[in-house]
Formats: sequence, C-alpha cells, structure tokens
Amino acid sequence: MTSFYRRYILPPLLDRAMSDRRISRYRRPVLAPASGRVLEIGFGTGANLSHYPESVRQLEIVEPDTALHARAQRRLAKTSRQVIVHALSAEQLPFDTGSFDTVVSTFTLCSIPDVASALREIHRVLKPGGQFLFLEHGLSPEEGVARWQHRLTPLQKVIGGGCHLDRPMRSLIEQAGLTVQSSDYDERYAPKLPKIVAWLTSGVAKKTVG
Ligand SMILES: C[S@@+](CC[C@H](N)C(=O)[O-])C[C@H]1O[C@@H](n2cnc3c(N)ncnc32)[C@H](O)[C@@H]1O
Repeated sequence: MTSFYRRYILPPLLDRAMSDRRISRYRRPVLAPASGRVLEIGFGTGANLSHYPESVRQLEIVEPDTALHARAQRRLAKTSRQVIVHALSAEQLPFDTGSFDTVVSTFTLCSIPDVASALREIHRVLKPGGQFLFLEHGLSPEEGVARWQHRLTPLQKVIGGGCHLDRPMRSLIEQAGLTVQSSDYDERYAPKLPKIVAWLTSGVAKKTVG
C-alpha cells in the first residue's frame, strides 16, 4: 500500500501542492541570487525550474525518488536549460569538496531522513564563500502551533512522503556551519494556509572562509 501510494498517488498530489501560488510566489526571489555552478537538492517535480534567473543555463539536480522523476519530465522537456539529473540522496553527495557556487533547497529539508548529514554535505560541496539558497517550512515560534506540529508529524510523514512539520530550519542550517545572512533572511506565515504548514523560512546562508 505504502509503495503504491508513493508511486502513483503522491507524485500528482505533490506536484499540485508545490505549484500552488500560495507558496510558489516565494520561489523567484529566493532563487534570484543563483549563479555559477548550481546544485538543487530534492528537485521533486521541478517546480523551481521556471523561477531561476535567465543567466542560470545549467543545473545539476539530486532527487532520489524515481516516481517524481517521471512527473518532472514534462518540465524538463520544456526547458532550454541543461539539467543534469542525479538519482540519489543528498545525505551522501558524490561531488568534490568545494565544487559548487550555489546549492538550492526548497521544501526539501523537511523530508530528508538524516537532514543533519545532508546539510553537512551541502556545506562540504560548496566553495568557500559559496551560497546556500533555502525556502523551507518548519517549526512555528508559536507554542500552540508547534505543539500541533509535533503531534501531527508522524501522520504527515506517512501522507507527505517523509515530511516533518516540526524541524527548526534556521538552527539546523547553522548547526551545519553555514552562516545565515541576516540581510536576506525572512520568516513568516504564508497567508491562507493552515499554520502548521505555513511557517516559512527563506534566505541565503554562506560557507564562510577561514
Ligand atoms: C515536498 S517535496 C519538494 C520538492 C521541490 N523541492 C519543490 O520545491 O517543489 C520534498 C522533496 O524532497 C525529496 N527528498 C526526500 N528525501 C531526500 C533525500 N534524502 N535527498 C534528496 N531529496 C530528498 C523528495 O523526494 C521530494 O522531491
């Protein structure tokens, strides 16, 4: 049942949810600084593809879920960008240390089982001074909302493809050694969504030199 759900039911649901204007309106500003050699982790159905700046002509992506690859094909077929697909987990990346200028994650850190390892890998593959662009939902600062996020995460993991509602995104990013740039950082509830999924954090975190 679980594999049937994840193979046939979840991909169209995810595609629809990730294309929803209530969250997709945040994608373009977060991706605007993308430059140089770019890696996106958790590509999903490719909802970011049309939101990268024109100057990004090539993109490498990591996505372990092959059911989502099939769904992403429609967008991959339409793009003029060169997209190099790696069907693997972000928890262990096969790339050289210091080899990317930009790493991108949108609504992905919630779903990676060992998120601390993935963030360590992101830090490792970034060049010194490289940037991690993130847009994630996570643990609300409101105690009552956070309590419900903790309660409902076990259910959300089943229906949402491993998604946790209650991860403290900013501190996870900082624990990996990345420095969140306060000028670019933003956190807020996305309007018109249930608060348990609506607390968004976004911005730029740098691999600082020295
Ligand atoms: C909610 S979807 C978001 C998809 C896409 N990033 C977006 O913004 O539309 C979560 C994504 O995380 C991916 N994911 C889960 N575990 C992962 C892992 N270990 N490494 C990389 N991606 C992973 C899922 O396959 C899925 O594509």
